[in-house]
Amino acid sequence: MTTPAKPRVAILISGRGSNMQALVDAARGPDYPAEIALVISNRPDAPGLAWAKSQGLPTLALDHKLYEGREHFEGQLQSMLELSKIDLVALAGFMRLMTAPFVGRWSGRMINIHPSLLPAFKGLHTHEQALAAGVRISGCTVHFVSPEMDGGPIIAQAAVPVLTSDTADALAARVLAAEHKLYPLALARVARGEIVLNAGIVQIQPVVNSGINQEPALFSP
Ligand code: GAR
Repeated sequence: MTTPAKPRVAILISGRGSNMQALVDAARGPDYPAEIALVISNRPDAPGLAWAKSQGLPTLALDHKLYEGREHFEGQLQSMLELSKIDLVALAGFMRLMTAPFVGRWSGRMINIHPSLLPAFKGLHTHEQALAAGVRISGCTVHFVSPEMDGGPIIAQAAVPVLTSDTADALAARVLAAEHKLYPLALARVARGEIVLNAGIVQIQPVVNSGINQEPALFSP
């Protein structure tokens, strides 16, 4: 009996790529339900792209500055995703806004991680926003991508405490450690088809032995 092929995932990055590394490391496990088939960066000099290359992963630099407008950039991106037979796209620190038509084409098949408990603190300078607001708990969110920046339906969240002594950097480091745990778990559940987007609503199949449910620091709806 042949084992069914795992969904092929493209990870899109713009910089350091530590979340990409967490996904790549998780996907090396034989039981992980997705294959990292391609890493794309819109910045050719992204450190994460160099790391992915060093690991022997298929990589692609798509410099957005060489394209006239988002549509042309996304046209090329779409061609590359199709050429590589990509099933799922995982944004990991990919700092480009995407047009509604592109997002629509990948509806339910493109996910993102953001370093706050959405819908709080969208956009940039997330941790500064959290400290300025005086929240006592922050965290990270994995969500399906919608045309609204950091506004798509929520898949899973992890919470971390905010300490009175925190600087933005200290909080960022604590949240990042949670991101590295949450993203592989969330991608796995999407890849297994346990979490799907149906008419704009996230549907979660109850799963016994889900990593998310066993990990007390991680919450999924
Ligand atoms: C991560 O903290 C990720 O959540 C954030 O960028 C960082 C990228 O770090 N993404 C966003 O803010 C998206 N709105 P990494 O390159 O080391 O994964």
